Amino acid sequence: MARIKRLDHVALIVQDMQEALSLWQDTLGLDVSEIKDLPGEAAQVAFLPVGGSEVELVKPTTSDSGLAKYLDRYGPGMHHICLEVDDIYGMLAQLKEQGVRLVDETPKAGEDGKLFAFIHPKAAFGALVELYEYPGGKD
Ligand code: CO
Repeated sequence: MARIKRLDHVALIVQDMQEALSLWQDTLGLDVSEIKDLPGEAAQVAFLPVGGSEVELVKPTTSDSGLAKYLDRYGPGMHHICLEVDDIYGMLAQLKEQGVRLVDETPKAGEDGKLFAFIHPKAAFGALVELYEYPGGKD
């Protein structure tokens, strides 16, 4: 049985990356481990490690993506939480078997080889939940 290992990150959707970084980096004092464009997701993301988890800042880079529409509709704020799992294929199969609605029925692969998939917010009481599996585990 696949299982959840840890809280990987909490993602906040932002309108202005510089403005968000001035709070999270300059005022709150977190370091940025990486900031990059994800053309496939129509987003720019920044990761700020804290303890064993990270804060992720997500900024839509086009005006017509799902992310951009989310930002238009709800404004900046909480976007999703991400849980690391030991076996993402197994976890998705278990969830499917239990009738849990998924955004991604099969995982997508990040450029770093990490696998990810989203559970539908309607299945998680309004929360968008991302699942990660790191190739070979984290660290
Ligand atoms: Co994420």
